[in-house]
Amino acid sequence: MKVFTSISDFQSEIKKRKAQSESIGFVPTMGFLHEGHLTLLKKARQENDIVILSIFVNPLQFGPTEDFSTYPRDFERDRALAEGEKVDFLFYPSAEEMYPNEPSLKVVVQDRTDVLCGKSRPGHFDGVATVLTKLFNIVMPTRAYFGLKDAQQVAVVGGVISDFNFPIELVPVDIVREEDGLAKSSRNINLLPYERKEAGVLFKSLWTARKTIERGERNPDKVTSLIREMIASETSGQIDYVEILTYPRLKPLVNLESTFIIALAVKFTKVRLIDNLILEI
Ligand code: PAJ
Repeated sequence: MKVFTSISDFQSEIKKRKAQSESIGFVPTMGFLHEGHLTLLKKARQENDIVILSIFVNPLQFGPTEDFSTYPRDFERDRALAEGEKVDFLFYPSAEEMYPNEPSLKVVVQDRTDVLCGKSRPGHFDGVATVLTKLFNIVMPTRAYFGLKDAQQVAVVGGVISDFNFPIELVPVDIVREEDGLAKSSRNINLLPYERKEAGVLFKSLWTARKTIERGERNPDKVTSLIREMIASETSGQIDYVEILTYPRLKPLVNLESTFIIALAVKFTKVRLIDNLILEI
């Protein structure tokens, strides 16, 4: 595995490999790798000649009061895990390398950001779309792998790829969970021990919602109330949102039908967790 910190060195290597018409699978991350990230890498390894992992904690996608400084980082551990997944190139740029000057342009996401995390994290998806536009231009992948844990991100990336005509296949990957159902996340390490015990309720509430829908409930407000009640009574977290929207368009719906997402975000002492379930009826 080769590690690159310089964009120009990395691009000349990619150019050589592209000339041999090899397919490139790309997994962009912010590091502190866990089983969720490794699942994306495994899928990329199965489907491509070359696998590229990027690790970059992107300052543009964090709000001024968010956890940029406490976001967990451990490059040596990540490097070993990436080796284990047979990653060919690990791209690990500094913030100065990615943003050497005050940017003269940024990508503004206009659609699908007035709901869910877009609503509670203003500017977040502009930061995600801007860094991914840069990373896609640097890596020029054949396929890019994204986890459905961040389902709104998958929807936004779909927009970036189609609006800007990137010749990239977007590959969404299912959520990887802990034994109690908690979605794996680099941020879980910042839960206090008692919060970690409570956090399984997030998935449990989504599961209960699913059962209620399977028994015939079609009113989205009734389903979101049920989830809210469970989280409020069984955890100490503060609910940021619980919403049901069409997927991937992320529009409101009056009755539950076709494909929709039940998504939630809950704030604990040092960390905000998200989870979702995409259902089709
Ligand atoms: P990060 O949070 O590191 O996540 C990198 C990728 O791993 C994302 O596509 C995310 O959805 C996926 N992922 C995380 N936890 C997962 C889980 N439990 N199951 C399945 N997939 C999971 O998302 C980002 O970084 C950034 O916004 C990024 C796209 C790199 C842009 O900066």
